[in-house]
Amino acid sequence: MLVVDYGAQYAQLIARRVREARVYSEVVPHTLPAAEIISRQPAAVILSGGPSSVYAEGAPSVERELFEAGIPVLGICYGFQAMAHSLGGEVARTGDREYGKTEVRATNVPHGLLDGTDAVQTTWMSHGDAVTKAPEGFEVLAVSDAAPVACFADEDRRLYGVQWHPEVKHSPQGQRVIENFLYEGAGLTPEWTTGNIVEEQVAAIREQVGDARAICGLSGGVDSAVAAALVQKAIGDQLTCVFVDHGLMREGEAEQVERDFVAATGAKLYIADEKKRFLTALAGVADPEEKRKIIGREFIRAFEEAERNILEEAEAEGAKVEFLVQGTLYPDVVESGGGEGAANIKSHHNVGGLPEDLEFQLVEPLRALFKDEVRAVGAELGLPAEIVQRHPFPGPGLGIRIIGEVTESRLEILRAADAIAREELTESGLDAEVWQMPVVLLADVRSVGVQGDGRTYGHPVVLRPVSSEDAMTADWSRLPYELLATISNRITNEVEEINRVTLDVTSKPPGTIEWE
Ligand code: XMP
Repeated sequence: MLVVDYGAQYAQLIARRVREARVYSEVVPHTLPAAEIISRQPAAVILSGGPSSVYAEGAPSVERELFEAGIPVLGICYGFQAMAHSLGGEVARTGDREYGKTEVRATNVPHGLLDGTDAVQTTWMSHGDAVTKAPEGFEVLAVSDAAPVACFADEDRRLYGVQWHPEVKHSPQGQRVIENFLYEGAGLTPEWTTGNIVEEQVAAIREQVGDARAICGLSGGVDSAVAAALVQKAIGDQLTCVFVDHGLMREGEAEQVERDFVAATGAKLYIADEKKRFLTALAGVADPEEKRKIIGREFIRAFEEAERNILEEAEAEGAKVEFLVQGTLYPDVVESGGGEGAANIKSHHNVGGLPEDLEFQLVEPLRALFKDEVRAVGAELGLPAEIVQRHPFPGPGLGIRIIGEVTESRLEILRAADAIAREELTESGLDAEVWQMPVVLLADVRSVGVQGDGRTYGHPVVLRPVSSEDAMTADWSRLPYELLATISNRITNEVEEINRVTLDVTSKPPGTIEWE
């Protein structure tokens, strides 16, 4: 089914809720003409909310054609008003705004779209205009204080609308409303399951790659691991995975890739042990931007060297590497304009050796998936929980969590402290409450402490637990004091060079998640 995006931030959320109801959904922009939406033959359409008033100049409208094509349609908030407006109902600027938690009352025993929901339910609203009269043929199913028509339905034409946002968690019965639309209104069955996703993708990858070979860079993160595992399942040893070990990973992470990933997938793995190269390049550098540039540059070079070796090996065997696997996710696709069609990227070739015109075709098996679906697919493919549930970790790794020069001994100190913090967070069962929890070593700062009978002069670390939806904004996580105390006690006891543990209580903005 299709979710038409009217420009608010809700379209992706709607698509996710629909998928949670096990129906496959895609987001399309509202600029897509009705004729094109119809020609795609969606099983159902949801019109999202949006920031406009239907009377505003240039406000996106919905062509009546869409409602006459026999496709079940649910309008939400702006989509609801646009539907009413387009079909001859009345939408007025009543002056009564409703914003946030709003009570909605069913006009009758809840049925149809509201089947199984309470006669009086809490919803989340955000509107200035209101539908004051439903179009002909529609039954008014619910009202609120400021919305004389808060929900309507025309069962004959299978057209439905709600003023509130059923997709947000603040509308506790919203998922039921969405499911009523999908299952009852549109007659769909819940078939979009993780097993089906894997089956479909495996078939698609085999079709795309054929007999050619592919390579995939593993970062240690969820997306590249799941993408690689899917491709491995599809084409087996035609895939070579590349792991550049830059030595800036946390404790156990390189092993997770080198041992656990391979054990779980049977993938062919090329390990480039580049720890020395990165440390040498980073020697004497304290400036964050410079560190990032060096790490990025060395990474590309190391990857290309590995790539070249793999290409040569393949050539010697009479095969050709034509594909590069990437773990692109659906939100990236939507945010970059939802472009379809096969993207082609040029491989970097800032070091000699690769032919100028070398191009890989991309294999992006996660292009249609949201992060939670990627995790589910990873679990289905047998990847260990440590990989599938991993918090985000930046490409430059611990290199940007050591404030000051990066050295092997500093990396060891930070690794030890970080491992304790992660272990205790997991132990407390709060992993899922926290987006990520960087531990930062203030390597150039020293402070005085006392331990046993002696004076110490060690380094502080900073705990930076944050909660976030998408890393664009974040708040510091209010972790229990007991947990913080345990982490602090263990780090100062077990990591000799650290004599102080501090907590970062800055939101983003103004602070970023990482310190560099
Ligand atoms: P900031 O520090 O900008 O981080 O609030 C936002 C998110 O991005 C991660 N991050 C990176 N990820 N390469 C990456 O792959 C990078 O250079 C990088 N820098 C920051 C950070 O961990 C957080 O999740």
